[in-house]
Amino acid sequence: QESTHIYTKEEVSSHTSPETGIWVTLGSEVFDVTEFVDLHPGGPSKLMLAAGGPLEPFWALYAVHNQSHVRELLAQYKIGELNPEDKVAPTVETSDPYADDPVRHPALKVNSQRPFNAEPPPELLTENYITPNPIFFTRNHLPVPNLDPDTYRLHVVGAPGGQSLSLSLDDLHNFPRYEITVTLQCAGNRRSEMTQVKEVKGLEWRTGAISTARWAGARLCDVLAQAGHQLCETEAHVCFEGLDSDPTGTAYGASIPLARAMDPEAEVLLAYEMNGQPLPRDHGFPVRVVVPGVVGARHVKWLGRVSVQPEESYSHWQRRDYKGFSPSVDWETVDFDSAPSIQELPVQSAITEPRDGETVESGEVTIKGYAWSGGGRAVIRVDVSLDGGLTWQVAKLDGEEQRPRKAWAWRLWQLKAPVPAGQKELNIVCKAVDDGYNVQPDTVAPIWNLRGVLSNAWHRVHVYVSP
Ligand code: HEM
Ligand code: MTE
Repeated sequence: QESTHIYTKEEVSSHTSPETGIWVTLGSEVFDVTEFVDLHPGGPSKLMLAAGGPLEPFWALYAVHNQSHVRELLAQYKIGELNPEDKVAPTVETSDPYADDPVRHPALKVNSQRPFNAEPPPELLTENYITPNPIFFTRNHLPVPNLDPDTYRLHVVGAPGGQSLSLSLDDLHNFPRYEITVTLQCAGNRRSEMTQVKEVKGLEWRTGAISTARWAGARLCDVLAQAGHQLCETEAHVCFEGLDSDPTGTAYGASIPLARAMDPEAEVLLAYEMNGQPLPRDHGFPVRVVVPGVVGARHVKWLGRVSVQPEESYSHWQRRDYKGFSPSVDWETVDFDSAPSIQELPVQSAITEPRDGETVESGEVTIKGYAWSGGGRAVIRVDVSLDGGLTWQVAKLDGEEQRPRKAWAWRLWQLKAPVPAGQKELNIVCKAVDDGYNVQPDTVAPIWNLRGVLSNAWHRVHVYVSP
């Protein structure tokens, strides 16, 4: 009998390049798939996401791998077994406020571990119109609270003459259920491009601080109506407080205008479901606000309290953050009271394939990406250029049709275009147009701001053409 090679997790994790060999694991088995990478029907870049580690978290997303022919193919590359001791879970440090955070998907590109902030890699972001829950971008300011669904209560402060409510999860389920597809985008999406112009304060998001899900829940307007609220004061805001808080006990908070909250057409939800599942802990379990067409910061997670106030929320994240300024404003001169809080977002698009710096085949190139606009404005067109913006072609829009004034979700788009003969490099650019004929600015510098928000210039990718 042949002796089986035993490898440690560390050995496996050091095999992530063609030079060292590319290894992966499935269960306790170790495989050297170096020779298979370029043959992978899903493309080499996707396989490489799992290089040096387990396949399970990726294959859980792509059921095509649950077939005997895929297992047989993989078996040909087996080189040994994992050291059994490596299966023992590491002990957790309990004094760490983040020790109880949930386990995350390894495909996520982590911008900060504590608090957890991460985005899906571009090659997975537009693979699905609906982003799978485990790779939906995550933007946390604080540790993730661990809430008991049985004792959870949502406090809704009543109107004068109305009644305050203390709603259990069951109570929320008793309101009429609505389900809508909504794209969530962080104000800081594509901030890394602003940093290249001049330093900004914030996490280095690339193009992935945006994702799309089917959300189900009760309408905020129905819940507010039960607490006796009506649309009377036009300046009033609905303030939300999360159950995540910092060491001083300050909770995450944000607000939206009462007019939007009470408008049934605005479809603001108190969501308890994401893509047919209870909300994952990172995305607000058990209840979060979903405000279609509005910046991610207002979609308060782990929702604890809802109240109607004469003015917008006094939360730091409403008044001292998530605002846009002129490029001339710096941290010495900034007056946060002089600018309104961001609510609806401007038109946005980005290229997810090919990647910057990649080499593409001569002949034909396939370009893919996403496009979205705030306020329910539909994307009516995406223009793509291969020559830095001199000439343009119109991309094909995929994904769900958008309803007029209620285009809450993105369109994915693609363009197959011949590579002009003799071209050694391509400067690929995309720009979207929404149904208000709003367009994206062509460069970053004129929209640069000290906080690096609202980064929506034409997206540019430079690639080489293989000779
Ligand atoms: C498709 C094998 C890793 C994503 C496939 C198919 C095979 C395969 C045989 C075609 C299945 C069919 O159509 O019947 C493998 C092997 C892997 C691996 C042996 C590891 C050694 C990955 C990883 C990802 C991934 C890590 C994702 C991050 C995909 C996708 C498709 C696919 C999206 C579908 C492509 C399409 O429909 O165009 N893979 N795969 N694979 N794989 Fe993998
Ligand atoms: N809600 C609470 N309670 N705490 C938070 O840190 N982050 C906000 C918003 N809601 C946040 C929150 C920000 S800035 C964004 S962009 C979205 O949640 C991100 O939602 P996601 O993590 O589900 O993608």
